[in-house]
Amino acid sequence: MSRLTGPEELPGWEELRKLVDAAVAAAVCAENFPPRLWQSMLYTAGSGGKRLRGSLVLASCAVAGGDWRRALPAAVAVELIHAYSLIHDDLPLMDDDDFRRGRPTNHKVFGPAVALLAGDALQAYAFEVLVDQANGAPPELQLAWVRELSAAAGPGGLVGGQLVDWEVEEGRWQQLAEGELAAAGMLEYVHRHKTAALIRAAVRMGGLAAGLREEDDVLVRLGVYGAELGLAFQITDDLLDEVGDPEATGKEVGRDRRRGKLTYVALYGVPVAQAAARRAVWRAQEALTPLGERGLPLVQLAEQVLARTR
Ligand code: IPE
Ligand code: IPE
Ligand code: MG
Ligand code: MG
Ligand code: MG
Repeated sequence: MSRLTGPEELPGWEELRKLVDAAVAAAVCAENFPPRLWQSMLYTAGSGGKRLRGSLVLASCAVAGGDWRRALPAAVAVELIHAYSLIHDDLPLMDDDDFRRGRPTNHKVFGPAVALLAGDALQAYAFEVLVDQANGAPPELQLAWVRELSAAAGPGGLVGGQLVDWEVEEGRWQQLAEGELAAAGMLEYVHRHKTAALIRAAVRMGGLAAGLREEDDVLVRLGVYGAELGLAFQITDDLLDEVGDPEATGKEVGRDRRRGKLTYVALYGVPVAQAAARRAVWRAQEALTPLGERGLPLVQLAEQVLARTR
């Protein structure tokens, strides 16, 4: 296993972003789909973004002692799932957003029907790409990747979180929840599922690519890191919606407040939300303590998530 042959040099985060960007664009370009569907898929999947999840797959593989190149199919698949989730999240019957990554949202350009189908297509295509591109990988790794990604994307992960997020908007959480404690529980459920589940899966898929097995302590630790980083990431997303710069985020600000979303800012206010993100980042970093210097790229990334402006 590559774990025993030693890690390849891990490129810096900007280089990783470019690598993931190119690999995703290549994956969506290659096929002969109906043109409008393909254009809509490429509009979002190929339009950049931070590529945090794909980069995390590669970095985590290297941190776990593997050759990060081996993890590329997983990085692409995770980004395709993420792209689908953004298209659907922005739809008029969900968050009804007009801007994403500094451009009109997918449905604003292609209409809601094509956007809906492009999201569906990207979700299925993620698994097709994952298995096709991982051709040379051992079948057990392919199976573990598919298991990890499908569980994180499905009803027990991202979609479950999105459902509760939608169900309790327009301030409904204020009526549904019996006091702040119940609202706090719902909020944590939403953030850990709609966002942290996929980020956790990205980190774990990198570990699996390095040859880690379910019972390995390092895989468990990577999972904790991913979950806590994912929570911090969504809390900072809530903060940026309130106090961010639309030029930097590429999204409108104040949308959550207007839609009455249940967010860390709505429930606790800005300073307490900032402190909650800080604590989640500490928990993420603490999980990697036994890895020592090897874990540094991921430890440093967690600081960047906390300080992010986009
Ligand atoms: C936005 O994710 C959706 C959330 C889960 C908060 P990102 O902020 O990672 O979006 P891109 O991919 O960089 O545009
Ligand atoms: C989205 O959360 C999480 C997803 C699964 C896409 P948000 O609705 O807060 O994400 P943004 O702010 O639109 O990017
Ligand atoms: Mg949303
Ligand atoms: Mg949204
Ligand atoms: Mg948001």
